Amino acid sequence: MRRAAIFPLILLVLCLGAGAAFSDHGDKDRKRERHQEGRGLGEYQVPTVNNPLYKEQCGACHMAYQPALLPAASWGKILALLPEHFGDQVDLSPQDRAALNAYLTANAAESCGCKISRKILKSLGGGVPLRISQLPYILHKHEDDDIPAGAFERKAVGSRGNCKACHPTAEQGQYDDDLVRIPR
Ligand code: HEC
Ligand code: HEC
Repeated sequence: MRRAAIFPLILLVLCLGAGAAFSDHGDKDRKRERHQEGRGLGEYQVPTVNNPLYKEQCGACHMAYQPALLPAASWGKILALLPEHFGDQVDLSPQDRAALNAYLTANAAESCGCKISRKILKSLGGGVPLRISQLPYILHKHEDDDIPAGAFERKAVGSRGNCKACHPTAEQGQYDDDLVRIPR
C-alpha cells in the first residue's frame, strides 16, 4: 500500500524537474515544440486572398499581398498612386479600382483580429506607409540575428517585398518563422 503511494510522488517530482528544465527554453523553442505537436500554427497567419479581381490585377508582378497586412488608409493611398506604382505604371478602370478599394478596405488590418494585424497597427505611429516591408513591426521581425547579412539582396530574393522567397507558405497567409527557408 505504501509503495503504491510513493510511485505517483516520484512521478510528480520528475515532472516538476522537467518543468524547471523547460522554463530555461526561450519563447521560440516553446513555440517550436507546440508546432511539432501540431498546435498553435495559426498564430502568425492572416486570411488568404479570396478575391479573383484582386488576385488578377495585383498578383501579376508580385504576390497578391493579403489585405490584413496594411491598414485601410495605406491601401487607399496605394490605389490612388497606381499611375506611379513604385516605378511602374498600373492601369485600372475606375470600376475595378472601386471594387478593389471596397475589398481591401473591408479586409484591411483593422478588420482582422489576427496577431500580425494587431502588431502592425500598434507599430504604425500615425504614418500611412505604402510598403508592408517597411512597417516598423515587419522591419523589427527581420532584424534578427537569424537572418544572415545580405539575405534580402540575394538573387533568389531580390527585395524585402518578396515574402514568398523566404516564407514558402506566404500565399496561404502563413508567416510563422518555423516555416521560413532563406534561399541561397
Ligand atoms: C506592373 C507590375 C505591378 C502591378 C500590376 C502591381 N504592382 Fe505592386 N509593386 C510593383 C513593384 C515593381 C513594386 C516594388 C517592388 C519592390 O521594390 O520590392 C511593388 C510593390 C508593391 C507593394 C509594396 C511591397 C513591399 O515592399 O512591402 C504593395 C503593397 C503593392 N505593390 C501593392 C499592389 C497592389 C494593391 C496592386 C494592384 C492594384 C499592385 N501592387 C499591382 C509592381 C506592380
Ligand atoms: C530574406 C528572407 C525573408 C523575406 C524576403 C521576408 N521574410 Fe519574413 N521572416 C524571415 C525570417 C528568417 C523570419 C524569422 C526571424 C526570426 O527568427 O526571428 C521572418 C519572420 C517573419 C514574421 C514573424 C513570424 C514569427 O513567427 O514571429 C512575419 C510576420 C514575417 N516574417 C512577414 C513577412 C512578410 C509580410 C514579408 C514580405 C513583405 C516577409 N516576411 C519577407 C525571412 C524573410
